[in-house]
Amino acid sequence: MNLVLFGPPGVGKGTQGERFSSENSINHLAMGDILRAAVRDATKAGQQARTYMDSGKLVPDGVVVSMIEDRIVKDNTTGFLLDGFPRNVAQAISLDDMLAHHHLTLDKVVFMDAPEEDLLERLSGRLICRACGFGFHRHYSPPREAGRCDRCDGELYQREDDREEVIANRLHVYRDQTEPLLAYYKGRPGFIRLDASGEMQAVYTALKEAVRD
Ligand code: AP5
Repeated sequence: MNLVLFGPPGVGKGTQGERFSSENSINHLAMGDILRAAVRDATKAGQQARTYMDSGKLVPDGVVVSMIEDRIVKDNTTGFLLDGFPRNVAQAISLDDMLAHHHLTLDKVVFMDAPEEDLLERLSGRLICRACGFGFHRHYSPPREAGRCDRCDGELYQREDDREEVIANRLHVYRDQTEPLLAYYKGRPGFIRLDASGEMQAVYTALKEAVRD
């Protein structure tokens, strides 16, 4: 099974995408995580991406398209869930071209949405483990011990782009550049619109049911 999850920052793509991929034994290809790893490892792509990410802008298409193609080709034996790619219409066209080139297809495209006040609350309370990358939320999924990861005891931190002023810019970029993907994908077989405003388990149940239908 090959899927795309798209939607605004903080809607829960990472939370739901990771669980769905792990339970279905498919690869979770999260563009933001791939970019953050490149920044951490100071690769050439990471160096190019850093300033865009810190200010909440999209990294140039040329950088992200080749990074994701490498991962899709390398990891396509069991299927994949793309989280955070494509993020504009040009990237969606590149994705269609690369899938056709590698004789792959998309089975489902899931658009997740929630009211802006929920997005702001989710992003501003998010905590990430520095060691394993697992995500928590101060109120909705707090760690057992403050500041430490339940899974690996790593240190929890707030993402640089989860500061209030950067969140505002990410939401603006989303409305301007990513929302037009809705028109691109809406009429396709396998397109799903998912209300992601409920609590995590309810959203996950709805996602599983929608993908199964
Ligand atoms: P990326 O890391 O992909 O950020 P994003 O799309 O802005 O999405 P987030 O990771 O912030 O949110 P999410 O929807 O995954 O929510 P999550 O599950 O964590 O990208 C970062 C940057 O990289 C971009 O700004 C850009 O610069 C660059 N980039 C990435 N892809 C690119 C591309 N294709 N092209 C160009 N540039 C690109 O949930 C958020 C919080 O809410 C968590 O704390 C979670 O615990 C909590 N939560 C989740 N669901 C619920 C719920 N139902 N109820 C209550 N709390 C919830």
